[in-house]
Amino acid sequence: MTGDHYFTAEPSAPAQPREVQFTVAGREYALASAAGVFSATRLDPGSAVLLRKAELPGPATTGALLDLGCGFGPITGVLATVAPAATVWAVDVNERARELTAANAARLGVGARVRVAAPEEVPADLDFAQIWSNPPIRVGKDELHQLLRTWLPRLAPDGVAWLVVARHLGGDSLHRWLVDQGWQVGRHASQKGFRVLRVTR
Ligand SMILES: C[S@@+](CC[C@H](N)C(=O)[O-])C[C@H]1O[C@@H](n2cnc3c(N)ncnc32)[C@H](O)[C@@H]1O
Repeated sequence: MTGDHYFTAEPSAPAQPREVQFTVAGREYALASAAGVFSATRLDPGSAVLLRKAELPGPATTGALLDLGCGFGPITGVLATVAPAATVWAVDVNERARELTAANAARLGVGARVRVAAPEEVPADLDFAQIWSNPPIRVGKDELHQLLRTWLPRLAPDGVAWLVVARHLGGDSLHRWLVDQGWQVGRHASQKGFRVLRVTR
């Protein structure tokens, strides 16, 4: 978790193209990655727990799904693949992450249903059937709370958000904070030190 990717919109490090391979729900993925983005060399263990333990959308899922903090796009790639009737919005402040996510969506054949955007480019009137996030915990508590205060209210009335947070990075205090903010929060799963939180209205 070193490097400037976490706070920098345009990483200065040379890209150093890489490929990251992983399996979710029995399907193998091989995605392009590069220096200057989060977990550039492997699927992040927290994202792996999220994709293994949360309830993935299915063929009947429609509407817009949000991958908040998409990185090089592993969560977006899985969501767009398993939910062929949905549109996935992949949002990140990091420009290289957005470029990789767009390239990976094209590589997976789902590019027509993936909208890659900087946060300010997302239409203000769009709401989301689902929000998925391995959120940027290390930006600090205030900024993380601000991020969630910005995006969670954009859940559709019957929408569901799935968040993964490491327990040692404050997963349980984030759970309590979300409850204090008025959300219904369930600890859906706990594995390898990660909490998977299911958040609804
Ligand atoms: C923990 S990483 C997860 C990346 C990716 N989803 C994955 O599984 O590899 C969090 C991501 O949030 C992005 N991020 C940080 N601040 C953000 C903000 N204010 N809005 C959107 N994304 C942000 C970071 O650039 C980073 O890519």
